[in-house]
Amino acid sequence: MPTVYRGTIVHTKSLNEFESFNEGFLAVENGKIIGIGNDFNNWLSSSKIDRDSFTEVRLSKFQFLSPGFCDGHIHAPQYAQIGLGMSVPLLDWLNAYTFPTEAKYVDKEFALQIYRNVVKATLRCGTTLASYFATNDLGSTLILAEEAARQGQRALIGKVCSNCNSPDFYVETTDESVDGTQAFVTAIRKLNNPLVLPTITPRFALSCSKDLLQKLGDIAKQNDLHVQSHISENLDEIEAVKQIFNTSYASAYDDAGLLTKKTVMAHGVHLQDDEIALLNQRGTAIIHCPASNTNLNSGICDVQRLIKAGLTVGLGTDVSGGNSVSVLTAIKRAIDVSKHLAFFKKQDILGTGKAQNPDNDYQQLSYKQAYYLATLGGAKALALDHITGNFSVGKDFDALLVDVSVLEKPHRAFTVDELLEKFIFTGDDRNIKAVFVAGNLVKGSI
Ligand code: GUN
Ligand code: FE
Repeated sequence: MPTVYRGTIVHTKSLNEFESFNEGFLAVENGKIIGIGNDFNNWLSSSKIDRDSFTEVRLSKFQFLSPGFCDGHIHAPQYAQIGLGMSVPLLDWLNAYTFPTEAKYVDKEFALQIYRNVVKATLRCGTTLASYFATNDLGSTLILAEEAARQGQRALIGKVCSNCNSPDFYVETTDESVDGTQAFVTAIRKLNNPLVLPTITPRFALSCSKDLLQKLGDIAKQNDLHVQSHISENLDEIEAVKQIFNTSYASAYDDAGLLTKKTVMAHGVHLQDDEIALLNQRGTAIIHCPASNTNLNSGICDVQRLIKAGLTVGLGTDVSGGNSVSVLTAIKRAIDVSKHLAFFKKQDILGTGKAQNPDNDYQQLSYKQAYYLATLGGAKALALDHITGNFSVGKDFDALLVDVSVLEKPHRAFTVDELLEKFIFTGDDRNIKAVFVAGNLVKGSI
């Protein structure tokens, strides 16, 4: 039986196309959107649906339906150390905190406990689609996939590959990396869950030999798989990659065939123009991770520059470089970073009187644009926008029921734009009353 939601509905159609329905409707059947618009009665009379054969859910004036959030880059095992090591640059942070933590996941009990919690926490925060890095360990990476499937989250999951420049206690041989990846892909296919897909995951160029990158590129190509990794995050990292590969960071991946339309690269803070052009040519997307870039002092990513150059951009929490599992928090931080950058571009913040080359036309990211990055932008980046990301007829119903009156009853009614603005700037997981993936209620209640 179809379900029809009636009330305020918001979503995006592109970076600059925000669409809302004030007294709208959204109809769902078998997990898919079968109708959306303003005129429910008109739609009903032209559809084959019987007047008495659907369930109606009426939203209150402080509630609205939104597409679910897409976390384009998150390290599930690092949930165990979230909030720690937040003042250390990337390469030291990896050695001091992250590698020792990730090495623990050979312990299946430990893995199950953390992975169960991270899927639960991300769903609670409205992440209906996540692109997860797990660890080098195959067995526990499968546990993460099973947990995502069990809890009903849409997820891309990667067994992390690293065969060099890593500590002895957390490194693989090339064969282990390749065989483990192949075994993982086979095992995920056996799960036979359309929501959970494998993704080829070289950790980053620095921890993979040329030979390993090439082999992973071949597996991705032969099986038409998603790919995820890191690019141009930190200046010391970039210098090391340059020394080892004798080429640009983007070319190191491209030479191995790893830049495809199904590839996402996290960060891209310090990309050169020729690298951006290469990524654009290959259809590879960037996942912007503002919290992590700030926490690890990696730098300021100018996402407007990437977007202007034609790249698809999504948002990532990058837990635990990022200190929150909430994509809503990532939206806030993306806006903050963009405002700081815009100020820096237009004015002098160094106390010397004037900006050296003021760019007075620079546009900071609006809250609607940041919301796009967190929904449709992410789905596009992950090449899943034919299934999710907004409320087009035929797509799966991946959605949030948001209520801005949960903590305090507002003193007046809000326009649709105000509802979204309120949620973005003051909201948190408590305002997300229900979460749906492919039409299934996976968190909360209606
Ligand atoms: N580069 C390589 N590994 C990592 C990681 O775990 N987090 C971040 N932020 N960058 C990385
Ligand atoms: Fe990361």
